[in-house]
Amino acid sequence: MHMRIAVLPGDGIGPEVTVAGLGVLDRVAQRFGHSVETRQALIGGAAIDACGAPLPDATLALCRDSDAILLGAVGGPKWSDPQSKVRPEQGLLRLRSELGLFANLRPVTVHPALIDLVPIKADRLRGVDLLVVRELTGGIYFGEKRREGDVAIDGCRYSVGEVERVVRVAGRLAKARGKRVTQVDKANVLETSRLWREVTTRVMRDEFPDVAIEHQLVDSMAMHLISKPSAFDVIVTENLFGDILTDEAAVLAGSLGLLPSASIGSGGPGVYEPIHGSAPDIAGRNIANPIGTILSVAMMLRWSFQLEAEAAAIEKAVSDVLHGGARTADLSQDNPIGTDAMARLVVEAI
Ligand code: IPM
Ligand code: MN
Repeated sequence: MHMRIAVLPGDGIGPEVTVAGLGVLDRVAQRFGHSVETRQALIGGAAIDACGAPLPDATLALCRDSDAILLGAVGGPKWSDPQSKVRPEQGLLRLRSELGLFANLRPVTVHPALIDLVPIKADRLRGVDLLVVRELTGGIYFGEKRREGDVAIDGCRYSVGEVERVVRVAGRLAKARGKRVTQVDKANVLETSRLWREVTTRVMRDEFPDVAIEHQLVDSMAMHLISKPSAFDVIVTENLFGDILTDEAAVLAGSLGLLPSASIGSGGPGVYEPIHGSAPDIAGRNIANPIGTILSVAMMLRWSFQLEAEAAAIEKAVSDVLHGGARTADLSQDNPIGTDAMARLVVEAI
């Protein structure tokens, strides 16, 4: 297969971790007989510096003309002035929206070799295997934003169709896994949440009768996620709650640096990115954990190219390397290895 990949390194540790991910992609392609063509473009703060906009037209055009997109991270203190009208994050949000990537898949598992790093009792972590399906192109992220004198307003809206399509993604995924969906909202307070609950109940009942559905309020879900994480299979929720709950869920894995994501939607190119941010404090020092990006490459192979064996080969290599004791600085203070060394071990294990 020939794969045409747009690479958007972005800011902070983004460039380092995307180089690591691409090295692994090359190795998998070589081993399984595929060819990879990569083209790089600017996004985020790097794009603001170079051309004044966080998502230049050329970047969007390149993404539309690619089979899949590998993204590093965006943002940093240099572009965080609250007075500023352009922000790196706008580039990422617009990319998700322009490409119609309404479903963001964030899997969370606990690697047995890392259990000691997790600040939660080991017996609670047994059997944790959850997949958060975060709605990605609606809600308060994309509602009307304005100021009225000394008042600031962020609107939150969802349509029936926006909820239906992401719930269907969750339903299909749950059917192929543990056959349980937990839908998270704040239906005791928010009208959009009541819509979510109604639509989810109907879609699951009519289209996925063999998948169990439960509803949780986001505040108690925040508690259950760390007190009984193995009780969940697929979690589906709106944009903001999904953003917050997945950073929380990352604690279960031992480090935010380990977690990948896939943003998919209406069938065009998907965006694959680690869930961590740009980590400006450690940028350029070759100490960032590349595993979140490497596992995002695995998700890319699985979701954009239907290359399951190739995806599994990366996941197994990462697992073997962690079993072998390799640790970046986020995982151990005791003789950690660098970003490039970790990527090289994964490449060798493939
Ligand atoms: C994420 C990030 C982004 C988000 C930021 C960078 C806009 O936190 O992908 O989780 O909030 O979606
Ligand atoms: Mn986030």
